[in-house]
Amino acid sequence: MNVLLTGGAGYIGTHTAVELLEAGHGVVVADSLVNSHEEALRRVERITGRAVAFHHADCTDPDALRRVLSEHEVDAVVHLAGLKAVGESVAQPLRYYRNNLDALLTLAEVMGEFGLRDLVFSSSATVYGDPGTVPIPESAGLESTNPYGTTKLFIEQILHDLAAADPSLRIVSLRYFNPIGAHPSGLIGEDPQGVPNNLFPYIAQVAAGRREYLGVFGDDYDTPDGTGVRDYLHVVDLARGHVAALDHLADSTGHRVYNLGTGRGTSVLECVRLFEEATGVHVPYRVTERRPGDIAVCYADPTAAGRDLAWKARLTVADACADAWRWQSANPRGFAGPPTGS
Ligand code: NAD
Ligand code: WQD
Repeated sequence: MNVLLTGGAGYIGTHTAVELLEAGHGVVVADSLVNSHEEALRRVERITGRAVAFHHADCTDPDALRRVLSEHEVDAVVHLAGLKAVGESVAQPLRYYRNNLDALLTLAEVMGEFGLRDLVFSSSATVYGDPGTVPIPESAGLESTNPYGTTKLFIEQILHDLAAADPSLRIVSLRYFNPIGAHPSGLIGEDPQGVPNNLFPYIAQVAAGRREYLGVFGDDYDTPDGTGVRDYLHVVDLARGHVAALDHLADSTGHRVYNLGTGRGTSVLECVRLFEEATGVHVPYRVTERRPGDIAVCYADPTAAGRDLAWKARLTVADACADAWRWQSANPRGFAGPPTGS
C-alpha cells in the first residue's frame, strides 16, 4: 500500500519509513520540518534504495494536505506529526494545543474529503499519567500531567468519537513507551535540538564528550536501585509496530488502542551500565534532584499488540545502546553536520 507519513522526517518517522519501504510499501512524507531535516529522508533513501516522496507541508494547512493527496494515490495515513517536548508544552501550552490538535483535526477533515478511512496515530504512555499498577494494560485509567499529554488524550478521544460516528473508519492509536536507539546502519537516529530532554540522547552526548556528566534525577524512588524505571523500546521495533498495525487494520473497524513496549522495566543506573558495556565508553554521572513531574515506574503490558497485531519487541536495550552510539559517533552534529569520514 501507499502510506502518507505525517511527521515522517522525524526520529520515529524516518525509522518507520525504512520499515515500510523494506516491507514493500510506498511512502509519502508530509512534514513542516519544525523539528527535523530533509537530509534524514535522503538517508532513508540510502538505507532502502527506494525513493521517498517528500512534501514540505504543515498538517494544520488543509490546502497543503489537499495538494499532497491530489498528487499521490494514498491508501492509509500514519500520523506522527506533532510537537513532543513535555517541558516546552508546560511553558507554551497554546502552541502545543494549536499545533497538535489542529494538525489532527485538519488531517481528519482532509482524509474525509479524499475518502481515506485508515489511520494509525502516535499516542504515548504519557496518557497513563502516574500508573496505579505495572505492567500497564490498555484498560488502565487515563490522566494527563502536562499539556503535551493532554493533546494525546484529547486526540484519542476525538478519534474515538470519529470512529463512533462513522463505522467505516479503521483507526489505531499506538501508545509508545520509551523509544530509544537508532537504525543499525548508523545513518539515521535521534537528533535533539539543544540540550536533550530524554535519558538516552543525554547519555550519548556525555559519552561523546559534548556534556560533562549525566544528571541522574533522583535515587530515592521506590525501585530496586532508587532510580526511575521505564520501558525502553528499540526504535526499529517501534517502527515495525506501525507496519504491523497497518497490516492488521483490515481485521476490524472502530478505534483500537495498543501499547507498544517490551513489558520490561530498566532503571536509569542499569541504562548507564548497559550503555557502558555495549560501547566500552565510560559515562560519568551525578545523582541530582528529582525532576518535577517524573514518576517512579512505568512499563507496558504489551499482550494485546502481540495477540491482535502479531507484534513483539525483539531487540534489547543493549542493542539500542550499540546502535545509538554508532549513530552518535558517525554524526556528532546530527543531520545538520557532515557525517564523520565524508
Ligand atoms: P520528532 O520531533 O522527531 O518528529 C515529529 C515530526 O513532526 C518532526 O519531523 C516535525 O517537524 C513534524 N511536525 C510537527 N508538527 C508538524 C505539523 N503541524 N505539520 C507537519 N509536521 C509537523 O518526534 P518523534 O520522537 O519522531 O515523535 C513522533 C510522534 O510520536 C509524535 O507525535 C510524538 O508525540 C509521538 N511520541 C514520541 C515519543 C518519543 O519519546 N519520541 C513517545 C511517545 C509518542
Ligand atoms: C527516563 C528516565 C528520568 C534524563 C518522556 C515523556 C513521555 C514520552 C517519552 C512522548 C526518568 C531519567 C532522564 C536525564 C535522568 N514522550 N533521566 N537524567 O520521562 O519516561 O518520558 O519521553 O510521548 O511523554 O515524558 O523519559 O527519557 O526523559 O526519562 O535521570 O538527563 O531517565 O528521571 O526516570 P520519560 P526520559
